[in-house]
Amino acid sequence: MQEKATILSTSQFHKDVYTGLTDFPKHLSSKYFYDAKGDKLFQEIMDMPEYYLTNSEYKILDKFKDEICHVFFKDSEEFDLVELGAGDGKKTKILLRHLSLKGIPFQYIPIDISENALNELEVSINNELPSVKIKSLQGTYFETLEQLCKMQHRKKVIMFLGSNIGNLLHPQAIEFLRNIQELMNKDDIFFIGFDQKKDPQTILNAYNDSAGITERFNKNLLARINVELDADFDLNKFSHWEVYDPESGTAKSYLVARENQTVRINGLDLTVAFDAWETIHTEISQKYDDKVVLWLADKAGMRISSVFSDENKFYKNYILKKRI
Ligand code: AVJ
Repeated sequence: MQEKATILSTSQFHKDVYTGLTDFPKHLSSKYFYDAKGDKLFQEIMDMPEYYLTNSEYKILDKFKDEICHVFFKDSEEFDLVELGAGDGKKTKILLRHLSLKGIPFQYIPIDISENALNELEVSINNELPSVKIKSLQGTYFETLEQLCKMQHRKKVIMFLGSNIGNLLHPQAIEFLRNIQELMNKDDIFFIGFDQKKDPQTILNAYNDSAGITERFNKNLLARINVELDADFDLNKFSHWEVYDPESGTAKSYLVARENQTVRINGLDLTVAFDAWETIHTEISQKYDDKVVLWLADKAGMRISSVFSDENKFYKNYILKKRI
């Protein structure tokens, strides 16, 4: 089962790399950043002073934990706290700790594609918060969530933190939210983080740090293709480039070829030619405001029930409910 899943996702990786590098202009999906090395680099990003997102959300959860947990438990009913893409759980633990302190009955169900990340999360929660019931599920968000909904009919609080939604263009974000909405019942809650529009320089700095960690993170895509698809990308012949458009609120990452070159990708039996200064678009990190979040939620059949913000208004967490 495990092996089959790996083979399937590998071939998807093959297909997507082929499509992206033979397209014009070239692109690669940010979802492929996260191999073991990419996971580690993202951890480093979250610890950087420029990457304000993690700390802002941490502060929101810490400051409003009592209110948030109260909303989760409003119906005095035991619930499943389902987290999509749990990562290391550092922020989630604030809520888990507070819920168990208050004696609120719940089960924590982290969903992640990475079995390894889930194992580490389980170990650390069992150590730090032994009273929390945890049942991790490995798989993609929707397939797993859908199965869970079929199996269990308890009230659900679904969490999607970190402004992970920002990797989606608006039409995809609406589709994502609509899929969630369709799996929700009347009293279920969707708790989601949206990074906010702010001084463009602050945003640019978060994705263009002086230590070059984001650069390594971005270039890890090429390193991964070198290893997994037997390719010969020379990472020194590409630059990390970030732009932020304050009108659309979209931050975009590129890898820019510094000179004419050809790259051989044996695993795809493909030779890719780059002109000097040709780009590979690798990621979008969308920034939002209340109006845009309201519009997205509305399009997806949801409504905003509460909003929590940090003092700088850098970042907001929203409680969304099914609109009925
Ligand atoms: C994990 C998608 C929220 O876009 O801010 C961090 C990933 N990319 N630095 C983001 C990321 C470059 C991050 N998300």
